[in-house]
Amino acid sequence: MPLFDPTPTNIALAAARLKDDKLVAFPTETVYGLGANALNTEAVERIYTTKGRPSYNPLIVHVASVEDAQQLAAHWPENAQKLAQAFWPGPLTLVVPKTSEVPDIISAGLETVALRVPAHPIALELLRAAQIPLAAPSANRSGEVSPSRAEHVTQSLGDDIWVLDGGPCEVGIESTVVDVSGDGVAILRPGILSSRQIERVVGPLVEASDDAEGVPRRSPGTLEKHYAPRALVHLYSTIIDAAFHAPLLASGQKIGVLPSEPTTLGRQFDVIERVMPAEPAAYAREIYGALRDLDDAGVALILVEDVPGGSAWEGIRDRLKRAAKR
Ligand code: TXA
Ligand code: MG
Repeated sequence: MPLFDPTPTNIALAAARLKDDKLVAFPTETVYGLGANALNTEAVERIYTTKGRPSYNPLIVHVASVEDAQQLAAHWPENAQKLAQAFWPGPLTLVVPKTSEVPDIISAGLETVALRVPAHPIALELLRAAQIPLAAPSANRSGEVSPSRAEHVTQSLGDDIWVLDGGPCEVGIESTVVDVSGDGVAILRPGILSSRQIERVVGPLVEASDDAEGVPRRSPGTLEKHYAPRALVHLYSTIIDAAFHAPLLASGQKIGVLPSEPTTLGRQFDVIERVMPAEPAAYAREIYGALRDLDDAGVALILVEDVPGGSAWEGIRDRLKRAAKR
């Protein structure tokens, strides 16, 4: 009942709900978003309440085109134009100075707004049908693993949420968030679109000021423990082997394992093992579903083999680190 096929009729109904300041979850190429009319404070309040999201964590506003993005920006930096041209529609969010039309609740009081044109036909159809910018954080309870399938949304937020079902998301982890509002270009949240790809367009990046002492945080949301399954997650840099983990595993608990190659842990322990892809795009597509499946299977602990170094893996490394944070 809460999942709707993306037929023209259902998209029109969903657009009407959004114009009526109600919530609709919809697919994007990264993860499912929980959408609301970005220009209406009460509609946006519903997002915060439904997610249990702290009010200091600002939201991403989704639009159908670069022109629509420019409407919400007080000033459209040259680097925004270059990056939008290179990567929109796509898994890139640009933080730019905001106009007063953007309600303060969207940006949690910051002078900037985060904007994105998603590369998903259903998201774009919905944006065009609704003709309003859509605030849409990932459609999960705050702190949980983001939803990469429609069913994940209802598992996380319940049956009352309307979800347009677009099947599994192609990218699988959230967009790269890039701040172009200041002097230098800084990555606030790594993603599948890597810092190297961004540097090729705008030149060398500067550090985000999040960790610097005495400097205001630039991306309030990125300090939270985030993207975490219910089970404890342990991240290991070496191949997982039974001998090394025996003390952890001897307790008789059911354990999840996400290695890069098959292990022999299952011979001795109660293990659910899922070998993860060797290629970053495929790994990103699978990781959130894998963590959720292990939670559903009732494992107490998930052993994850860390992924390779290098720019192509930085978004995935970031999410694994956060999932393992307690
Ligand atoms: O892929 C995605 O980005 C997904 C899909 C649905 O588009 N959305 C998503 O939204 O991940 P959310 O709300 O879960 O993450 C938004 C991130 C947070 O880290 C937040 O702190 C940051 O964007 N952000 C939003 N507005 C900002 C602003 N004005 N300045 C700095 N960071 C901002
Ligand atoms: Mg989120």
